[in-house]
Amino acid sequence: MKVINFEDKDFSYEFYKSFKEHGIAIIDNHGIDLMLYKKVQHEWSQFFASNDKHKYDFKGLKDEGYIPPCSVEKCLESEQVERDLKELAHFYSERLPAEISCNHNILQQQMMSVALICCQALDEITPQKVFKSDNRSFYDMINQAKKTCLRVNHYLQKNPCVSKFICAAHKDINFITLLLTNNDAMIQSKDRKGKWLNVPCDKPYLIVNSGETLEAITDSHFPSNVHRVLNPHSHQQTSRVSMAFLTHAHCDVQIPGYKNTEDYVKQKLSKIGFNFECLNF
Ligand SMILES: [Fe+2]
Repeated sequence: MKVINFEDKDFSYEFYKSFKEHGIAIIDNHGIDLMLYKKVQHEWSQFFASNDKHKYDFKGLKDEGYIPPCSVEKCLESEQVERDLKELAHFYSERLPAEISCNHNILQQQMMSVALICCQALDEITPQKVFKSDNRSFYDMINQAKKTCLRVNHYLQKNPCVSKFICAAHKDINFITLLLTNNDAMIQSKDRKGKWLNVPCDKPYLIVNSGETLEAITDSHFPSNVHRVLNPHSHQQTSRVSMAFLTHAHCDVQIPGYKNTEDYVKQKLSKIGFNFECLNF
């Protein structure tokens, strides 16, 4: 898979091309502060290790909070029927746990800046004839959308003999997702012929995935990427914390066959068993 350079003058075209063909882009020189990323990752590792996490139980807080392993979603695309063994922290930036510093929000702002530039790239190159259910630019669809969130996943080690996948095959439901590669996990992406391709991870690249919301808004011009995460250290008893920046479109963005994006996302989430009944967009 081709790595594209965020600083390259042809970035917009290369990003569009990668998204159009694969629903994924791998970006070098993205400018995300890696030291900051590690600090935030460390804070969340401590959060998951502490019993304080239970003060933020998702059910009590209704639309955000700590989500224990028994409540996480299952992967519809997956060859494995079991749920990923992970716990989650899903908090919006204005209501972080007291145990987490403002570094989390600074990192989120950096990721949002890159996400907006990626949307500008799509706005610049996407042909006029491409059907979009909503006439807003991609940039405006996500700029200041309320449900965008830097979600933290804590993957727990399964039985080391069988834990080939840290995260089973799935598509992201949201608009686009940003995450950093990490050499303790191998991301694979399915191409249009159904072949699994390794996402390069020799450097901390930024991966941008096209989500199902973007696919639906553009009538599949940008396919949503099916991906999974392999465990290269399946013989070791290790766990890991990873962060995915999930951008959502504004709730009133139109999608054919649905009332709007809010309706679309809620229906998708309920299918994967995520208890988001109380999610207020
Ligand atoms: Fe994903």
